[in-house]
Amino acid sequence: MGGRKFVTQEKLRQVKEFLEPFKYLANAHMTSFITDNYWETLPEDIKTEATALTVDDMYATFWSWGRDPANFNQSTAIGEFFRDCWALSLGSELFDDLLLSHDTCNETLQTKRMSVKKNHEISNLKEKVAIICNASKSNCVVDVGGGKGYLGTSLVLEKQIHVLSVDSKSHNTKGAVEMFERATKQAEASRSGSSLYKHATAFVTPETNLLEIVNDKLCSKIDHKICLTGLHVCGDLTSTCIKLFLKCHEIVSLCTIGCCYNLITETYGLNFPSDEKHTGFPLSNFLFKDCYALGRNARMIACQSIDRICHERKEMNPSLFWRAALQVHLLRQLGPNCEISVGRHCSKATSFLDYFQKVQQYLDQDLEEKIQELDFETRGNHDRMIKFYCLRLALAPVIETLILLDRLLYLHEEGIENAYIMKVFDGVKSPRCYAIIGVKMEGTISQLFQL
Ligand SMILES: C[S@@+](CC[C@H](N)C(=O)[O-])C[C@H]1O[C@@H](n2cnc3c(N)ncnc32)[C@H](O)[C@@H]1O
Repeated sequence: MGGRKFVTQEKLRQVKEFLEPFKYLANAHMTSFITDNYWETLPEDIKTEATALTVDDMYATFWSWGRDPANFNQSTAIGEFFRDCWALSLGSELFDDLLLSHDTCNETLQTKRMSVKKNHEISNLKEKVAIICNASKSNCVVDVGGGKGYLGTSLVLEKQIHVLSVDSKSHNTKGAVEMFERATKQAEASRSGSSLYKHATAFVTPETNLLEIVNDKLCSKIDHKICLTGLHVCGDLTSTCIKLFLKCHEIVSLCTIGCCYNLITETYGLNFPSDEKHTGFPLSNFLFKDCYALGRNARMIACQSIDRICHERKEMNPSLFWRAALQVHLLRQLGPNCEISVGRHCSKATSFLDYFQKVQQYLDQDLEEKIQELDFETRGNHDRMIKFYCLRLALAPVIETLILLDRLLYLHEEGIENAYIMKVFDGVKSPRCYAIIGVKMEGTISQLFQL
């Protein structure tokens, strides 16, 4: 096995080592920010510096880093922490040799029903999938978790590729068929199009016999060479696709973009040892042999989009602080087992008072007398919580990097030399923008992809 496995492993090791002392930060429950005194857990130099900053200064530093991390050069302790987070995130030059670069394409408005985000995704991804099909000599695409079928429709109508879209929900399959019919009418290509696009409703697992479904739905008389794709396949569905790619000889290429890292099941998570046959993390032997676990909150953080938050200069939702203040009261009243969900409508409150008034209806408790007291008692934590929030968020791209490198390394460990990560979308337009690409063909990447 070539050196690519070792390069990927070495970079994953660096990310893992950087993350280790900050895992507690990523896994902090913001609800317990005050009651667990999280502020005091920050490294001394960062805490001292953050104490001296105003909230506006903290936001300005955080946003300026997130908007242009490559040119962020503050050499303070906080600046250095942000710079380190960037250096260990996929966008930094450290990962250039693991990333396959390809120009993004011009966007074409395909259907009025598609959002700007979806249009951006489909315009770019269909080009990449067509290139991968070409490189791997695939004669059909299986779009796992195909949803409403936008990707399949554009691959069929614009690239004339045979597509089977598989989704676990029958109403999605039905919707995809209807969407395709509308699109073909617009494209006036219904005859040739409809025979190229098939749909199946199935819950895909690592044990699914995809070839059987392909043979059943597409023509069974030809030897299928499948390109397996999936756009924003949530949780464990990405690792499922990777496992199917490795297992099935007829799947010759892979292009999968995950999302919802919070839904990934972890082998060494809280439920270890669990009865789950297939978990989604870790995949690589490198992390597996270390019994590596990330934690649910860390995976939740990885779902956040620094690109978007900093581009839009988004501030922390104030209800996070009000919830942490409520926790002070709940802990006092109910003791350590005060895990209470107060309902989503409370997050739309407009002030501390409004929040507690909403909460008291929900909890059926008279909190009137407590509100002023709690406000006074917890006020001093407000600015600290915002600063803590910014520092914690900076870890999001590092955790995402760790999850993606684990997937990439697994492919290398299993003998797929031509496996890469490719940035396929603009991170502001579509936050989950990295695809895992794998091709079973021999040859250099520039030969395969004509780069
Ligand atoms: C986030 S949506 C993405 C839909 C589509 N790819 C897109 O980007 O527009 C994920 C889709 O995967 C489907 N799904 C989830 N788990 C699945 C499984 N195990 N097998 C097949 N489909 C699944 C869901 O029903 C849903 O349509």
